[in-house]
Amino acid sequence: MLDYRGYDSAGIAYFDRGIKIHKDVGSVEHLMQSVPETIASNIMIGHTRWATHGAPTKLNTHPHLSFHETICLVHNGVIDNYKELKAKLTEQGYRFYGETDSEVVANLLESFYLEEKDVLLAIQKTKALLHGSYAIAFFVGDAPDFLYVMKKGSPLVVGKGKGFNLVASDASPMIEHTNDFLELEDGEFGFLSQDKVVIYDEKGNEVEKTPIHKDIELISHDLKGYPHYMLKEIEEIPQTISRLINAYFQDGEFRFDKDLLTDLRESDHILFIGCGTSYHAGLVGGRYFEKYKKSASRFIASEWAFHPTYPGKKPFIILISQSGETADLIHCLKIIKEHNLKNLIITNTGGSTLDRNCTYSLLLHSGVEVSVASTKAYVAQTTLLAMLAAALEDDKAVVADLRQAINVVNDIQDHYKPAIQEVAKELAPHKNVFYLGRGYDYFLSLEASLKLKEISYIHSEAVPGGELKHGPIALIEPGLPVIVFITDPETAPSMRSNIEEVKSRGAKVYTISTAELSSPEDAVVVKDYAYYLSSVAISSVAFYLAYYVSLEKGLNVDKPRNLAKSVTVE
Ligand code: F6R
Repeated sequence: MLDYRGYDSAGIAYFDRGIKIHKDVGSVEHLMQSVPETIASNIMIGHTRWATHGAPTKLNTHPHLSFHETICLVHNGVIDNYKELKAKLTEQGYRFYGETDSEVVANLLESFYLEEKDVLLAIQKTKALLHGSYAIAFFVGDAPDFLYVMKKGSPLVVGKGKGFNLVASDASPMIEHTNDFLELEDGEFGFLSQDKVVIYDEKGNEVEKTPIHKDIELISHDLKGYPHYMLKEIEEIPQTISRLINAYFQDGEFRFDKDLLTDLRESDHILFIGCGTSYHAGLVGGRYFEKYKKSASRFIASEWAFHPTYPGKKPFIILISQSGETADLIHCLKIIKEHNLKNLIITNTGGSTLDRNCTYSLLLHSGVEVSVASTKAYVAQTTLLAMLAAALEDDKAVVADLRQAINVVNDIQDHYKPAIQEVAKELAPHKNVFYLGRGYDYFLSLEASLKLKEISYIHSEAVPGGELKHGPIALIEPGLPVIVFITDPETAPSMRSNIEEVKSRGAKVYTISTAELSSPEDAVVVKDYAYYLSSVAISSVAFYLAYYVSLEKGLNVDKPRNLAKSVTVE
C-alpha cells in the first residue's frame, strides 16, 4: 500500500467465488478491521484515494465495480473528459454510484469488453477515448487470474517476483517482496498473472522489457521511539546535511558530474522549478547561483507549465522534487524535453519518474520522508543547491559554513525546544498568523508559513518586511501573532523598524534572531552562522513551531487533512 503518501479513503478487492470489495473512508488500519484474515484469491488490488473528483465518501472510494459487475478497477490520475464519457455511457443505460472519473473508466472498459469479449481490445478502445492521466489496474470477474494494467502520464511500476507479480505507483511498497522492476512507459498496457508479465506498446505490439534491479530503501515504519515521523525527520536534519556533504564533497573536492558542471557553467540562465516546499528551496537556490554571477529565475511548476518562458540564449533547468513524482513537474519536463533543453532533477527518490527522465539527477540521500509535511528534504534541497552553486567556482568555504550550520541545528535540538513550545502554546488558539522576513529570511518565512498552515490549519501569510506598508499592514490588529526572522545583517535594521510598525498596531511579535543581531526581547536567539544558510541552519525552528502548534491542537501531524505526500495529479 502507498499509504505513506497521504489519503482519505482506502479499499481492496479480490476474487473469491465472485468479486469481493472492502472499502471505506478513513485509514488502512480501519479498513483492515473489515477484511478477513485469510483470503483465497490469485489476484488482489488495493488503493488509497486522495479525493479529486467527488468527496471522500465510501461510494467514491476505489476499487470501483462496473455497472454490470464484470470489471473491478483502481485508478490514479485524472480523466479530463470523464463528463462526456459518462453522458454517453448513461445514454447506453449505465448507472453510476459515485462521482469519480475512475468509475467512468471501469464502465467504459466494461462497455467495450461486453461488445468485444476481449479484454486487450477493450483496453485499446478505452485508451483511444481517454483524455488525461492514468495508472490503472483492474481485473475481470470472468478471468480472475489476470491483473490488467494501463498507463499514461501517471507512474506505474511492475514488481517481478518468483511465483508472483506485483504492480504499484512506485517501487517502494514492493521492495519488501522484490528488487526487480519493470517500468511502463506512457501508452503501454498489458497483464500480469502469478508467473507472467506481458506488456504491449501503444500500437498493441508486445514489448520485451528487461527488469531493472533496484536497492531502494525500505520505507521504515519504525518511529525509532519518536511519537511522529515529522519529529523524527526534523531531528534527522543534522545527519541529512552531513550525508550530503559526504556524498558530494570528498577528499577536499566537490564531486559533481563534470558534464553537469560544464553545462551549468556554459548556460546563461538557470531556471528553478518546483512546487510547494520544493519551490521554496528553488527560491533559495536561485539566490545561491546569483551569488556566483549566474542569472536565475524561479517558477512554480503549475504556473510555468501554462506559460513556459526561457530567459537567455542557453537556459538550463533545475527541477526540484522530494518525491520525483509530482505531476505538475512531470508536465514541465515534457515541455522542457520538447524544447531540447538540458535539465537536472534534485530529488530524494532514486528510480522515480523525474530521476529516470531528466538529463542529470542529483539524489538528496535523506532517507524516506514519511510525514506529509516536508522538513529534512527541504534542508537537503537547499544544502545541495548551496554546494552545487559553490562547485561552479570551487568555493570550498561553503562546506565549512555547512558544517557550522550542523552545529547550530544540533544546538537548536538540544536547547531550544522548550522555548519554541512556549511560543506554540500561544499561537495555537489563533486563526491568523503573519511571518515577516527579508531576503533569505523572507524565503524562510514562506516555508515556515506553509508548514504552519499545512499541519495546524491556521491561516498564515509570509510577507517581505518592506511590503507590509503596501497592503498587508491593514490586517495587523491587537493580539495578532507576527513571527519575524532576523538573521541577515544587511536587512536586520529594516526588520527592526518593521517590528516597531506592527507592534505599534498591537501585534504580538515573536522574533527569531541570531546572537549577533539579537535584541533582549527576542523569543528565540540561535548561535551565529553564515547568514545565507538560514534555510539550512534555522528552518528547524520553524518546523518545530509548526509541529508543536499541531500537537497543541491535537491534530494529525503526519497526515494532515486534504494533503498527499506525493501529488501525482495536476
Ligand atoms: C509541504 C510539502 C509540499 C511539497 C510539494 C512538492 O510540506 O511537502 O508542498 O513540497 O507537494 O512535492 P515534491 O517535492 O515531492 O515535488
